[in-house]
Amino acid sequence: MATFNLLLLPGDGIGPEVMGEVRKIVDFLSRQGVARFESESDLVGGSAFDAHGVAITDAAMKTALAADAVLFGAVGGPKWDKVPYQHRPEAGLLRLRKDLGLFANLRPAICYPALADASSLKRDVVEGLDIVIVRELTGGVYFGEPKEIVTLENGEKRAVDTQIYTTGEIERIARVAFELAKKRGNKVASAEKRNVMKSGVLWNEVVTHVHKNEYPDVALEHVLADNCAMQLVRQPKQYDVLVTDNLFGDVLSDIAAMLTGSLGMLPSASLGAEDAATGKRKALYEPVHGSAPDIAGKGLANPLAMIGSLGMALRYSFNLGDAADALDKAIANVLAAGLRTKDIAAAGQNAVGTTDMGDAVLKEFQKALG
Ligand code: IPM
Ligand code: MG
Repeated sequence: MATFNLLLLPGDGIGPEVMGEVRKIVDFLSRQGVARFESESDLVGGSAFDAHGVAITDAAMKTALAADAVLFGAVGGPKWDKVPYQHRPEAGLLRLRKDLGLFANLRPAICYPALADASSLKRDVVEGLDIVIVRELTGGVYFGEPKEIVTLENGEKRAVDTQIYTTGEIERIARVAFELAKKRGNKVASAEKRNVMKSGVLWNEVVTHVHKNEYPDVALEHVLADNCAMQLVRQPKQYDVLVTDNLFGDVLSDIAAMLTGSLGMLPSASLGAEDAATGKRKALYEPVHGSAPDIAGKGLANPLAMIGSLGMALRYSFNLGDAADALDKAIANVLAAGLRTKDIAAAGQNAVGTTDMGDAVLKEFQKALG
């Protein structure tokens, strides 16, 4: 039986609660002999800062680098608003992405028929939506230098962030998008702001080049990122795979998430380059939602994005496609049966808590696995 090393980083806020539901499913998979998971847990974000004075320790980074996959909950909260910038909770996540080389962030947005009414858009606009945002994750304005606030001679301050992209960075994310499109609707839309940004001009050129030379059979469309945001709320089903940079991807994936009914529904996978010798990729899986400090500790959080993130790990890191399909099916079945956490419940509809939702998925998963 294959053995996989899993690092669980629940983080802050609702992170530990939703991760608890994932643990149940991982334990079940081990018990069933589907695979053996050796999991370790560690702190990240504000909880790591409270314990160690940093957003992630070097020891936790070392475990992450050695793991077959990292499952990440969420970080941040008002409690840490005043910690020094370099130690803010988000710094732990950014270090993981950067040091593990996780340049490709896949964010699928699927609107389950049962949830179409939970979306803020009309049912016919979102029902059956199935798109993937491929967000570049280790470059752009998130990491570009200089990144600073300096005080000028006149006492004013000046803040600088730097948007940087190289040909190689754009090529490799474009390839991820085209490869994914080939397995789906064979259509890629690439979003940038070439009308105001040099990085947008290069992005457009490089994506065009990769398309022409390597993927001429995939349909490619270029769209300005602002127009793309508008199109996502106007007619999201026109897209299949949407590839974009780190910052636009952050914004556009929040929009896409809301189309599906709730931020609490969206899983994501962050993948590194394939190791030439082993064929393995470093990988981290996390829900798109944040730590939701307002509902933390109340047992109200929706665990489906975290569970869906485990599903992506089964598919992309562990080659357990059947188990991943079964888990996706379990989520769909639970929703179809009418179970709702508060974030996706319609007005007047009864909502269940985090553990009830997790238990229901586990039960359906057991059935679906057969
Ligand atoms: C996300 C989040 C992060 C980001 C934050 C927590 C740093 O918003 O994963 O979308 O901006 O990338
Ligand atoms: Mg975000």
